[in-house]
Amino acid sequence: MRRYHVTTFGCQMNAHDSERIKGMLEELGLGEARAQDEADVIVFNTCTIREKPDQRFAAHLAQAKALKGRDPEKVIAVGGCYAEAQRERLFELYPYVDVAFGPGSIPHLGEWIGAGGLGVPRGGFGLDERSFAGGLPMHRERRFQAWVQISMGCNSKCSYCIVPSVRGREQSRRPGEVLAEVEQLARDGVREITLLGQNVNSYGRDLLPEIRTDFGELLRACDAVEGIERIRFTSPHPKDFRRPVIEAMAKCDSVCEHAHLPLQSGSTRILKAMRRTYSRERYLRLAEEMRAAIPDLALTTDLIVGFPGESEEDFEQTVTAVEEVGYDAAFTFVYSPRRGTEAAVMPDQVPEELKHERIERLIEVVQRVAEARNRQRIGRIEEVLVEGPSRTDEAVLRGRTRRNTTVNFSGTAAAGELVSVEIEGATSTTLRGTTVAAVAA
Ligand code: 5AD
Ligand code: SF4
Repeated sequence: MRRYHVTTFGCQMNAHDSERIKGMLEELGLGEARAQDEADVIVFNTCTIREKPDQRFAAHLAQAKALKGRDPEKVIAVGGCYAEAQRERLFELYPYVDVAFGPGSIPHLGEWIGAGGLGVPRGGFGLDERSFAGGLPMHRERRFQAWVQISMGCNSKCSYCIVPSVRGREQSRRPGEVLAEVEQLARDGVREITLLGQNVNSYGRDLLPEIRTDFGELLRACDAVEGIERIRFTSPHPKDFRRPVIEAMAKCDSVCEHAHLPLQSGSTRILKAMRRTYSRERYLRLAEEMRAAIPDLALTTDLIVGFPGESEEDFEQTVTAVEEVGYDAAFTFVYSPRRGTEAAVMPDQVPEELKHERIERLIEVVQRVAEARNRQRIGRIEEVLVEGPSRTDEAVLRGRTRRNTTVNFSGTAAAGELVSVEIEGATSTTLRGTTVAAVAA
């Protein structure tokens, strides 16, 4: 049997795309290889959001090139956002790549890889003829949890971001299609879904009037599907987080008490240059409003340091915003200029050294705040969805709370079960505890 291997970089959207890439390859009769060197078809699903993932991909690709040098029959396919961003130059840069495809053209991958004989054309992108891959076969990585794509593309114009140029304009998936998929997942035993889109709360604005549905309504409809116990979503844009969605979060039992709300910077001046279209004050008001409406809400965020023109005062505003909001977790990034974006050609680029000094200071604050938040959970009973054994100790179980914190705990339970865990310890990233009972279904 011919075998494939897929390496995935980047966000959850990409991880989900990889499930469909794998599903398509399996439909072509290929099986999954454990490692790259055992595969006949080597696929990379790439990311280009920052320069760092580009570099990691380059290192992986060099290894695949060496494998192909030894066995020219091997097929190398490069998909995803980096492939799309480099569509003009990809085959020039990497002549040993056989197939290249953008995130919008996964449905065509089968034709390009070619059934059986693997007669490989050097194809194809196609952001212009994007289509949802909803009906495609899917190789789901996890039995009790699933991603559901609700939209693709992004209409925002954040000045640092390359996503709109690689994933195109926003296009919402029809609500009937989304719900049919959620219902099918529930029948398959899935208990937790994560709705995916570049900006989930602008969902539905492009739908025809007959089927127009906003994100709040979509949450309510998913909440009504029996068997789905937990609903998550990522990512919302703070500018579009309105009352109806907050109300849906508060009212729907299955919608988890967690929002990932990317702040990017705590300085209104920098937010303006980033074209985020909200101010520090408006964001803080939104966070407060959400906390008031949704008891026990966890908030997480993305932060960029060293955006062009960021002064010490601007940076300190980010630090104080982290303290004021009290994030449960935050991803911190050093600003990375991306070709073709507005910010890449702005004057006053911040020197690398200063960016790194700032990110280290920021990480310290993020960890301190997150640890304090996690310590507040000690003594409480949390509902945990069991994911399996812990990564470091087979005898310990691992799962997640509704607030999306990882818990390592002792007790006996099977993956996919909901259990009650008493929290006994906390670090900045994880909780520790012991099961007290299974949660009644
Ligand atoms: N440089 C650094 N971080 C970036 N992000 C997006 N573009 C860039 C960039 N050019 C971050 C943002 C976004 C997350 C997915 O990646 O914080 O929310
Ligand atoms: Fe995801 Fe953006 Fe990276 Fe593409 S560029 S994989 S959308 S984070």
